Amino acid sequence: MTKSAGAITKAIFPVAGLGTRFLPATKAQPKEMMPVVDKPLIQYAVEEAYAAGVREMIFVTGRHKRPIEDHFDMTFELEVALEQAGKQELLDVVRSVKPNDMECIYVRQAQALGLGHAVLCGQRLIGNEPFAVLLADDLMVGQPPVLKQMVDQFAEWRASILAVQEVPAEQTRRYGIVAGTAVNDRMLDVSRIVEKPAPEDAPSRLAVAGRYILTPGVFHEIANQPRGVGGEIQLTDGIAGLLRREKVFAYRYEGKRYDCGSKEGFLEANVELALAHPHLGAGFRDYLRSIDI
Ligand code: UTP
Repeated sequence: MTKSAGAITKAIFPVAGLGTRFLPATKAQPKEMMPVVDKPLIQYAVEEAYAAGVREMIFVTGRHKRPIEDHFDMTFELEVALEQAGKQELLDVVRSVKPNDMECIYVRQAQALGLGHAVLCGQRLIGNEPFAVLLADDLMVGQPPVLKQMVDQFAEWRASILAVQEVPAEQTRRYGIVAGTAVNDRMLDVSRIVEKPAPEDAPSRLAVAGRYILTPGVFHEIANQPRGVGGEIQLTDGIAGLLRREKVFAYRYEGKRYDCGSKEGFLEANVELALAHPHLGAGFRDYLRSIDI
């Protein structure tokens, strides 16, 4: 099968972070395995990538990798038990976690040296082609799914694309912030990117969310970066290097982002996705109305 021009078939999921904002829940399990309603965060991200045409899922894992590998592995005993019990619907749910044409590959980041370093760990598996990066703790809800929107833009612009959203000035310290020239109402030709600036130093209020399409040139740039903010090897600094050689665009995605790396964002995602859930929504709404808040 030949790959259609402009298609993105590989994605990196950095899942080796320490998740300190969510302790103690993340003491012995990756935060990406925390469930929002009935699915772990990582599954939302993998489904989003799959819907965008990605088939090779590359997980950059750390010490607590097992639950993620197990989740995307076949669970033989469970499948047999469900089959014998005639629970076809549940069997379908279990089997759909990893469609047959999807490949999962694991690479280890021995030390959590930063997001840029985690992405660099995927270099050999990516090779010389554009690829996606998805941070599973940013749960994105959009129609079409946010990465699919970006892949469609990539087919047109053929350059790196960062998902961005406007944030209040007091939140710029939490994000990579971009500035540039608008090429249309959703796309910005990026001229600057800064990691976690103070509001007074931020070049805009456009913050990078956890979805990227990057050209392979970024690996060389990351590899040449000294440690940045927080002593980490920052992806933002690698992208800043890339900017000097290639075009980089920022795309204002259509949809909503929940920062599930924070307790507040995680709770909001659970409430809103439970309300939207086809089986649970109505009952959960009644329950929320019934409690005294
Ligand atoms: P975060 O900035 O959220 O860091 O990483 P963290 O360590 O996971 O969480 P906190 O801030 O301590 O609570 C963004 C993404 O990059 C991954 C994380 O797993 C997360 O998906 N990451 C970060 C790595 O894979 N390796 C790293 O060295 C750093």
